[in-house]
Amino acid sequence: MAFPSALPVPTDSDPRDAPVLRWGILGPGLIAADFVSALGRHTDQQVVAVGSRDAARASDFAQRFGIERSHGSYAALLADPGIDAVYIATPMSEHHANTLLAIEAGVPTLLEKAFTRTAAEARDVRDRSRSAGVFVMEAMKTRYLPHRQMIDTLIADGVLGEIDSVTAQYGFPIPYQAGSRLFEPSLGGGVLLDIGVYPLSFAAGLLGEIAEVRGFGTLTVSGVEDTVSAVLITPTGARGVIDTSWRGVGSGRAGITGSLARIDVDAVFNNPAPMSLVSADGRQRLGFDDRRHPGREGMVFQVAAMARYLRAGLTESPLLGLDESVRVMELLDELRHQVGARFADEN
Ligand SMILES: NC(=O)c1ccc[n+]([C@@H]2O[C@H](COP(=O)([O-])OP(=O)(O)OC[C@H]3O[C@@H](n4cnc5c(N)ncnc54)[C@H](OP(=O)(O)O)[C@@H]3O)[C@@H](O)[C@H]2O)c1
Repeated sequence: MAFPSALPVPTDSDPRDAPVLRWGILGPGLIAADFVSALGRHTDQQVVAVGSRDAARASDFAQRFGIERSHGSYAALLADPGIDAVYIATPMSEHHANTLLAIEAGVPTLLEKAFTRTAAEARDVRDRSRSAGVFVMEAMKTRYLPHRQMIDTLIADGVLGEIDSVTAQYGFPIPYQAGSRLFEPSLGGGVLLDIGVYPLSFAAGLLGEIAEVRGFGTLTVSGVEDTVSAVLITPTGARGVIDTSWRGVGSGRAGITGSLARIDVDAVFNNPAPMSLVSADGRQRLGFDDRRHPGREGMVFQVAAMARYLRAGLTESPLLGLDESVRVMELLDELRHQVGARFADEN
């Protein structure tokens, strides 16, 4: 395949062009605040209700963002007849129970990454979602970003040839803090579930079947991993090389090498990022750089995608379905165990 004269157009570059859902927020923490702000800035989605384990926290959050209704329990939020969908933004230890509650209430769910704490919990969520016919989607925002959409098209068109490797790095220094959800095993702490899931999901998604995975890492005094580097190997020998860390200032970059060309993601790959397609001899380079949805605001693309899926009557994301969320959780379990981190109920 000849090197193209132009990059493909992203299949979805306007999150405003999506059916409007009335959202409920379950767990009014840091990312929930970013979610509401980003939806307000870039979409016509409506956030109409918020639920907290504490009525005062729900009411404070509602006032801060001008949300109509606040609820003092997650069950009350999910029983609110005025919501079309719920965004679950609680620590990983709660994802399984919170999502089962949403499934029982019949409320379509966008569940923050990592999907669950363990693969066993992920399989249970998948099976119950399917048997109830209730939509559940992992909020793996990276999968829905414009540069990722272009990567899909370039690969499908054969521009890269055979994929030989995927590299992805994500990390930043976080000082150890006892009791924080990041470092506390009982809250599903550890760098893999918190941010390592981004490079892992990216590499595994592009490579397909993984035959073997080998990881190395370090642990904090609380027993959760705070650095992991790993290689994923496919049956044909293609490699995913990933790194995640709370100890160093990471680049956040990613790359895909193919037999005919390569793609460089030139900034933090799990947010909207500039990307280049480079020819085999390095002489031809096509660049893409769309800065309309900086940083975490890129999470609006997954929201627009979910609104479209619900309108189409789907019960899973066609881009990252529940089997894929389970597969990624199985790889996360395996790596976590290889580096020596186990949750109390796994010992
Ligand atoms: N997409 C992204 O860019 C991104 C970025 C950061 C985090 N995340 C994900 O978002 C989720 C939440 O992260 P966060 O940083 O927003 O966390 P956070 O600030 O600690 O907020 C989590 C919320 O969950 C609720 N919660 C329920 N059970 C809890 C428990 N046992 N302990 C503590 N809080 C509990 C709390 O609300 P109430 O008690 O008031 O109900 C709390 O406000 C995680 O899954 C994380 O991986 C995603």
